[in-house]
Amino acid sequence: MSERFVLATHNPGKLKEMREILSELGVEVISPDEAGITVNVEEIGVTFAQNAMLKAKVVCSQTGLPAIGDDSGLCVDALNGGPGVYSARYGGENLTDAQRNNLLLESVKGQGTRNAHFLCSIACAFPNGDTLTAEGRCDGIINYIPMGTGGFGYDPVFNYTPMCKTFAQMTPEEKSKVSHRGKALRAFAVALGAYLSERAWKELEEEKQRREEELSEAEGVEAAEPPEGAEVAEATNAPESAEAVGTAGAPKAERKVPARPHNNKKQKKHRKYR
Ligand code: IMP
Repeated sequence: MSERFVLATHNPGKLKEMREILSELGVEVISPDEAGITVNVEEIGVTFAQNAMLKAKVVCSQTGLPAIGDDSGLCVDALNGGPGVYSARYGGENLTDAQRNNLLLESVKGQGTRNAHFLCSIACAFPNGDTLTAEGRCDGIINYIPMGTGGFGYDPVFNYTPMCKTFAQMTPEEKSKVSHRGKALRAFAVALGAYLSERAWKELEEEKQRREEELSEAEGVEAAEPPEGAEVAEATNAPESAEAVGTAGAPKAERKVPARPHNNKKQKKHRKYR
């Protein structure tokens, strides 16, 4: 059965994207709704990586399942890296994308540089405390005017200079090949694939070691068993020096029987691995 991961977002586009890329690893990605929770994590981090991890950890502890969080935004050199983690709220919560883009164009007008980049961080938190992170970056410039109709957010004003197109002028496939998010997703899939195969290998090694221990315990016990037919007292709660009260006539020293320590030991082991 495939392992289920919760993606800490209510954005169906992001869910679809993550499902597609992780299905190759045999991983099932479910929404917070499917996991029976609502994600309401305040993005209080000062970096994308902090916010992504915050979401992943909160959802992981809410659901008891491995959880993935992400955060991304636009960093403009002329705005000292802003709006950055405030990209979604730049200029106020109630602005439309078009109004936000116009505000951005006004803010960079006449500045020495129009350089900018998008960043995307993806984090994954596992119930055992393990974490994974991946990041993607895409460099470009702020266009002089909004261009193109595709995409969302700052896409019409972000010019990916190697293609001389704004993100909004690209097809989703073109954008995904070069975008911060596409890169972060692919890097995350690689990191998760490596983590899962290393974990599977470790589990196999542990299982192998456990079987070897059990086998050598069983062999040790067999070697300590008295010969068939010898009368042995039942060693109930017997201390290590428990003595057989046999009547076989053997000298006392030879009638000592180990108190079957394997009974207790085995129970402990089973408890440990249950
Ligand atoms: P989120 O963390 O992916 O939800 O992104 C936060 C904000 O960053 C969005 O609301 C957008 O304003 C901006 N943003 C992130 N990625 C993109 C993108 O690929 N194109 C345009 N805007 C983006």
